[in-house]
Amino acid sequence: MRPFLLGVFVALAAIAIVALGIIQTGAVPARQDVPLGNLEKWMARTSLKATIEREAPQPPYPYGPPSGRDYAAAAVLYVQNCAVCHGTAKGTPTAIARGFSVRAPQLGKHGVEDDPEGETYWKIAHGIRMTAMPSFGQTLDPRALWQLTYFMKHMDALPPRAQAIWENPKLAPPPTPLPAPSPPAGARAG
Ligand code: HEC
Repeated sequence: MRPFLLGVFVALAAIAIVALGIIQTGAVPARQDVPLGNLEKWMARTSLKATIEREAPQPPYPYGPPSGRDYAAAAVLYVQNCAVCHGTAKGTPTAIARGFSVRAPQLGKHGVEDDPEGETYWKIAHGIRMTAMPSFGQTLDPRALWQLTYFMKHMDALPPRAQAIWENPKLAPPPTPLPAPSPPAGARAG
């Protein structure tokens, strides 16, 4: 039995050394200007789907049903935090939006009205790994996250004020600056 176990151990160690060597040659794609490979795409999508199925909130959803004020507040939040990547009702994609290996959907054309609210909430709160989609759960409060979620769900039928901001982002005020982030654990002042 011993020589067999030793053989297995040596084989695993050899595989690990080869894998490390491959990574060190730069074989794992590191660029943002090349689309994801099929294997990367499959891994990212499959894992995202399973994670959302496990973690997304289920109905009844909080902070609903939204009022006209909620939709207008969400439109402002959208202009301040999302439009740079996802575009506005009529605009063309920005230089930032054109620079990702995983395209940011331009929500004016390809909205997410068909997705359940729980899924959209999860994506906004946690972000999407291996893409440029940020997590907003650390910077927006739960009410704001749900206002944005309901806005996404009803983007094709918004009340007038929200629709006006979504069509003309200049109507939104500039964002209020966030407090400075706390230094990472172990960081020294100065
Ligand atoms: C820095 C760029 C960037 C910003 C800013 C950004 N996103 Fe995204 N977002 C992305 C990318 C890239 C994807 C595509 C991810 C994918 O295909 O898996 C995405 C995906 C999404 C999706 C899923 C779309 C779909 O078709 O399934 C939603 C919903 C979304 N974002 C909402 C938001 C909201 C709301 C905000 C602002 C609070 C925001 N995003 C800000 C880049 C961004």
